[in-house]
Amino acid sequence: MRRKLAAGNWKMNGSGAALAELDEMAKAASNGAEILVCPPATLIGAAASRAPGLAIGGQDCHARASGAHTGDISAAMLKDAGASHVILGHSERRADHDEHDEDVRDKCGAAWEAGLVAVVCVGETLDEREASNTLDIIAGQLAGSIPDGATGHNLVVAYEPVWAIGTGKVPTTDQIGEVHDFMRASLERRFGPGVGRSVRLLYGGSVKASNASDIFHVSNVDGALVGGASLKAADFVPIVDALN
Ligand code: G3P
Repeated sequence: MRRKLAAGNWKMNGSGAALAELDEMAKAASNGAEILVCPPATLIGAAASRAPGLAIGGQDCHARASGAHTGDISAAMLKDAGASHVILGHSERRADHDEHDEDVRDKCGAAWEAGLVAVVCVGETLDEREASNTLDIIAGQLAGSIPDGATGHNLVVAYEPVWAIGTGKVPTTDQIGEVHDFMRASLERRFGPGVGRSVRLLYGGSVKASNASDIFHVSNVDGALVGGASLKAADFVPIVDALN
């Protein structure tokens, strides 16, 4: 039985004052679904202290444990600050920082080494979907971005079609189901049925209260990775409630 997960990715948004939103989110956390909030790194320590009932995550980490990497943050540092999870391979990182599958794989290994759960993101661009390459792209990203050693405890996979992020466009439930069923089968093949069935699969891209319930009824959707609608409790809590 996979526990449902509502994850919020605040991206480069939020100041200390925004942490007040966590109070209402924490109240919703007692209802069954796990809630993960990934604020900017500057807020992780304060978020973890303020809302112990929520899981707190980073949005990226370096592949090395320490060293001369100005401006970077290691997985161990995230853990030390109070994070339990880290988002890796988000399409914005892949695009803005030229991250490739092998970079994501190395970061995932570093996250596991530090005891963090890796939330690995995959997803096709609109061109790739229109060229009917979606499943090939997903297969390549899954194979290339996840190292050996995955378990249901150290890995979450988020399917985020690039064209659905922040656009208000959402794939049909059939399209989401096709990719999620494919990801489940791929994970089962590679890691064995036990592990493959225990890894949680999130959908991300323009999730909001009005579409969450339909998305959560799709097979092999175990929750959501939410961007814009995770910034305010008034938007995020109804999404969490749709999971329960
Ligand atoms: O990681 C979450 C994300 O990329 C989706 O963003 O704003 O479309 O919910 P949004």
